[in-house]
Amino acid sequence: MPKVTAIRCIRTRANGTWTIVKVLTDQPGLYGIGSASDHYHNTTVIHLIEQSLGPRLIGREAGHIEDIWQSTYTSGYWRNGSLLNTALAAIDVALWDIKGKEAGMPLYQLLGGPCRAAVPCYAHAVGEDLPSLEEDVRRYVEEGWPVIRCQLGPYGGGGFLDPAVARRPKNAWPSSQVFDDEAYLENIPAMFAYLRDKLGFGVKLTHDVHEHLRPQVAVTLAKLLEPYRLFFLEDALSPEQIAYFRLIRQQCTTPQAMGELFVNPHEWLPLIQERLIDFIRCRISKVGGITQAQKIAHLCEWFGVHTAWQEGGDNDPVNLAAAMHLDLASWNFGIQEENHFRPEELEVFPGHPVLERGYLYANDAPGLGVDLDEDKAAKLLDPEKASRIFYMAEDRRADGTVVRP
Ligand code: CO
Repeated sequence: MPKVTAIRCIRTRANGTWTIVKVLTDQPGLYGIGSASDHYHNTTVIHLIEQSLGPRLIGREAGHIEDIWQSTYTSGYWRNGSLLNTALAAIDVALWDIKGKEAGMPLYQLLGGPCRAAVPCYAHAVGEDLPSLEEDVRRYVEEGWPVIRCQLGPYGGGGFLDPAVARRPKNAWPSSQVFDDEAYLENIPAMFAYLRDKLGFGVKLTHDVHEHLRPQVAVTLAKLLEPYRLFFLEDALSPEQIAYFRLIRQQCTTPQAMGELFVNPHEWLPLIQERLIDFIRCRISKVGGITQAQKIAHLCEWFGVHTAWQEGGDNDPVNLAAAMHLDLASWNFGIQEENHFRPEELEVFPGHPVLERGYLYANDAPGLGVDLDEDKAAKLLDPEKASRIFYMAEDRRADGTVVRP
């Protein structure tokens, strides 16, 4: 049985925000890879893996995935933090990759075998105004995407006022835009009224609130959107306000998707148990990898909750591959968020999942099926760009109060 001999991290993407972990074994050529990417704290996660979690695992049986997960999870006593979970997930996914290679099976076979031929994904349609949004939605419909997310510009779009017309204090802090809950409440239902009028009800549509609203406004929004029969409304509330999902459920039938910021079982457990959400949206790498995510999927099955693992802009093809294998093997899979990569980025990952007309296709190579070309990974990294520090955009209300992103 293979034993772990080394664990190291490789940074890539031009801006250095992708980190791929490589777990090496004592069997020639046998290794696994996993995603340790964190857009905002990338070097901190690398330090955690290479200086803290990794050295503990040298000499351990690579196949003891559950035992390694459980003992690593509590190895620093405190647990369930975003960065610790990411480091743990990277190692976990790499160990699953190794096990698949040992078995000679793609991961979706090891996880129970495929429940579907390919993985339906949702597209990200955006427009600064309604006609351009409609045009973008129509483009995705024609391309064959089964579900389409609709946004008026960036997150919070539809809720932004020109600072010149917003009722701001005389000593207002400089700001290029002002977020206003009531404007959002006005514009987003109007957006769906427009889209349903133009496109009918045959197209499956979603919307991402990205937690911008005051909780009571979020309840009102969900209620106002009910006539437009969304596939789901995403992140209506911030993780701190999840108790408000009970109020949403009492008020309307708009399906709820939640969880991309979740890192702790106590965040998702009540929502699943009480059937307060319809789609669980955790990011595989933020909940501790395939081991943890498959448990979440299985738990959800019995409460009628479907999976919609988070992907989006800052994820890498290795995290997407991990999600795809779970998507294929989970009966209660709902939909997969898309990810779009540049051709030169995909070249770094031979065997990457293939996205075609709204469906994601796996190959039948053993393990994750995706590899890392380290030379190309190094060439893709731009040291200048990679030295920058990234922060989440700050949206603020008229008086300057920061909005939870
Ligand atoms: Co989201």
